[in-house]
Amino acid sequence: MDSRYKELLSLDRAHLWHPYTQMKDFEKDDLLFIKRAKGIFLYDKDDKSYYDTISSWWCIIHGHCHPKIKKAITNQLDLLDQVQFAATTHEGAILLAKKLVELTPDNITRVFFSDDGSTACEVALKMSFQYWQNIGKKEKQKFISLHHGYHGDTIGTMAVGGTPGFHSPFEPLFYDSYHIPSPYCYRCSYNSSPEKCSFLCLEPLEKLLKQSASEICALIIEPLIQAAGGMIVYPKEYLIRLADLLKRYNIHLIFDEVATGFGRTGSFFALEQVGVKPDFICLSKGLTAGCLPLAATLTTEEIYQAFYDDYEKGKTFFHGHTFTANPVAIACALASLEIFKEEDSLNRVKPVIDMLQGEKYRFMDLDIVGDVRGIGMIAAFELVKNKEKKESFPSNIRVGWKVYKKGLNEGLILRPLGDVIYLLLPLITTELDLSDILEKTYKVLKGVQEELNG
Ligand SMILES: Cc1ncc(COP(=O)(O)O)c(C=O)c1O
Repeated sequence: MDSRYKELLSLDRAHLWHPYTQMKDFEKDDLLFIKRAKGIFLYDKDDKSYYDTISSWWCIIHGHCHPKIKKAITNQLDLLDQVQFAATTHEGAILLAKKLVELTPDNITRVFFSDDGSTACEVALKMSFQYWQNIGKKEKQKFISLHHGYHGDTIGTMAVGGTPGFHSPFEPLFYDSYHIPSPYCYRCSYNSSPEKCSFLCLEPLEKLLKQSASEICALIIEPLIQAAGGMIVYPKEYLIRLADLLKRYNIHLIFDEVATGFGRTGSFFALEQVGVKPDFICLSKGLTAGCLPLAATLTTEEIYQAFYDDYEKGKTFFHGHTFTANPVAIACALASLEIFKEEDSLNRVKPVIDMLQGEKYRFMDLDIVGDVRGIGMIAAFELVKNKEKKESFPSNIRVGWKVYKKGLNEGLILRPLGDVIYLLLPLITTELDLSDILEKTYKVLKGVQEELNG
């Protein structure tokens, strides 16, 4: 190995601490050193290419290092790099807010910028909470969320999370909130099947609302797919019924579109597929096409107006971040929206979506694959020890990790979610790319299956 990389990797070992990583896993092996990226590929220190099959944690939209985004960033840096956003404004923030309002349902009129997916959700939770305080409904202090839901790693968003694998050490810190069953059809708690489903998993919500609506602010949910919880795709009808119930009981609905926004599910936002008008929409990841951190929490005029009063009334929303509405990140987001139009991204990707959603079922041939599910540019394979009994692998087998390691040999970055292997592809993926990715992924899963069978 080139001595420069050797030294850098030993400095990494000495000083870095990586997210969601047991550093002991790298006691002997090196971390994958990524030197550059272009389009759908990442390249390591030896210039070996890897398909970025998970869009670098679901944020890359138009491929890596898009020239239009690069130009937008450099142009912006000639003009304005950063300015605090309390009592000041700038052109990019105004234009992006206008565009986001135009792209979302007509009840949405207001945009609050922050930095990442967690803060987008945290802002929605805090706004909902303070809305009820500001209008005098002080007893409304609780939230509802779903098992297998994920909204971030801040203490506020962990408390409404449903992924103990990520958050269990912190449970003593969580505020009291309500958790309802997930519409996880493959492992339906009511032993039903999609064909005969009567949405029994919504009954606990209805019961809860009947009993306790007066103390509930909002429900937070990822529309159409619970992403970090295991790429759990659920029926649209579930979301429509859930939204109706909340409306009936006058509870805010927060759509966390951090993972689903910007074309991932086949429409620009997932909410378009259900015709629901939530009270809050949380955006991040794909907002800047994955180039710089930025987030937005969108809401309604009614909610905004509950904070609008004389200063001394104490109704101001006291929340902000140093980089709120950072002009460079905003320039990136505006460029990305233009690329969507210029490259006709959503239409262009349609045949690739059809191919992915059709071909994914081929993976059911493998004994190790218990379930396949998908929507838009996402397909997921849940690996099981026993297909008939839907029995999971014991955690010490680390089947997902095995797939990840084998994937690297094939030039794929297949970072798993526990035992769920998934593809979440950039919108620039072509049919040719997809065919190669599917073939290689199949080979990797088959290889792990054979290894486990001894
Ligand atoms: C649906 C959803 N919400 C929130 C977040 C948190 O975003 P971030 O990691 O940018 O804080 C994620 C991250 O994966 C997510 O998928």
